[in-house]
Amino acid sequence: MRSIEFKAPGGYEVLALVDRPIPKPANGQLLVKVTFAAVNAVDNTVRSGTLSNKYSPVVLGNEGVGIIVKGNIDLPVGKRVMISCFTANGQIRGIYVNGVWQEYLAVEPSELIPIEDNISDEEAAAFPVSFFSAQACLNKADFTPGKSVLALAAGGGVGNAGIQLAKAHGASTVITTVGSEKKAKMARALGIKNVIDLSIETITDGVARLTDGKGVDIVIDSVGGALTGEAIHSLARQGILVAIGYSAGRTFSANITDFVWKGIQMRGQSLNGWFDRVAENKVWDKIMPLFNKGQIKPVIAKVFRAEEVADAQRYLIEERPFGKVLIKF
Ligand SMILES: NC(=O)c1ccc[n+]([C@@H]2O[C@H](COP(=O)([O-])OP(=O)(O)OC[C@H]3O[C@@H](n4cnc5c(N)ncnc54)[C@H](OP(=O)(O)O)[C@@H]3O)[C@@H](O)[C@H]2O)c1
Repeated sequence: MRSIEFKAPGGYEVLALVDRPIPKPANGQLLVKVTFAAVNAVDNTVRSGTLSNKYSPVVLGNEGVGIIVKGNIDLPVGKRVMISCFTANGQIRGIYVNGVWQEYLAVEPSELIPIEDNISDEEAAAFPVSFFSAQACLNKADFTPGKSVLALAAGGGVGNAGIQLAKAHGASTVITTVGSEKKAKMARALGIKNVIDLSIETITDGVARLTDGKGVDIVIDSVGGALTGEAIHSLARQGILVAIGYSAGRTFSANITDFVWKGIQMRGQSLNGWFDRVAENKVWDKIMPLFNKGQIKPVIAKVFRAEEVADAQRYLIEERPFGKVLIKF
C-alpha cells in the first residue's frame, strides 16, 4: 500500500510516498481503505518538529474517510466511514500515534463513524477536526443560544466551522474575519453576512460596528498572534475568548484593563489529551445530527493526489486557501 512518511523533522520535502504491507487488523479491529485524508495545520507543526512532543509519528494525518474492507456486523464490508481524529484511547492520530496518510488503516470499530448517503467522501474527510474543535470551543465558552459569537478566519477550517455551528445553535449574531477582499467575497458568497475584512478594518472597529458598540460574548480564536489581543478587546462584559490555535503566532499582547474592567476570561482548548469517551460524546452529539441533516458542512478548497502531498501542505500553510485541503489516495 502507499503510505506517506517522514523520517526526521524538516521542510515539506521530507514527506515521501513509500510502499508498505497492508496492516493486519488485530482481533476485533477493522480494516479501512482510505479514500481521502485531510491536511491540517498541525501536520505542518509536527513535520517541522515545532510541536513540544517527545514522540514523532512517522505517518501524519488526523482525519480521513474510507471504505470498510474487513468489517463486522455493525460496520460491514463496503460501508463508507469517517475516521475519527481520536483513537479509542483518546489520542489524536498523526500526533502521538501514526495518522491516516496511508492507504489502509487497521482501527477499532469505535474509531469509525458511519457516513450518511447525503454526505460526500470529501465532506466527511474534512469534517472531524474542524467541527469538533469549533464545537469544543463553544462548549468551553459556555455557549447558549442568544449569545453573540466572533469566530476568527472564515476561510480557516476551525473558523468556518465555528461560524456554521454558532449559527446552527442559535447565536444572536455571528461575526467573522478574513485577511483579504478576495476572501471577504468568498465568505459573503457562502451567505456569511458579518464579515470583517482585516485588510481594510480592524477587529475592534468591525465588532463595534456590527454590535452597536456592545462587543461579542464569545470569541473562537484559532488564529493567535496580534489578533488575539484585538479580539480580547472586542469582548463584551463577561465575555469569553477560547484560544485553540496559533496560525499567526504563539504570543500576543493585550490590554489588562479589558480583563479588569470588563470581567472577561480567556480559556484554552485542545483536542489532544483532554477527551475521554464521555467528554468526546458531549461534542459529537452536538455536531453529528447537524452534519447528518446537511445543516453544516466543511468547505473544500482543493484536493491533491497522494503523490502531491508536499504541495498540499505548502498550499495550506503558504497560500492560506479558503477551506480545507485534502489528499486523495
Ligand atoms: N489545539 C487543537 O486541538 C487544535 C485543533 C484544531 C486546530 N488547531 C489549530 O488552530 C489553528 C487553525 O486551524 P485551522 O484548521 O482553522 O487552520 P487553517 O485552515 O489553516 O486556517 C487558519 C486561518 O488563519 C488565518 N491566518 C491569519 N494569520 C495567519 C498566518 N500568519 N498564517 C496562516 N494563517 C493565518 C488565515 O485566514 P486569513 O488568510 O483570512 O487571515 C487562515 O485561513 C492552527 O494553528 C491549528 O493547528 C488546534
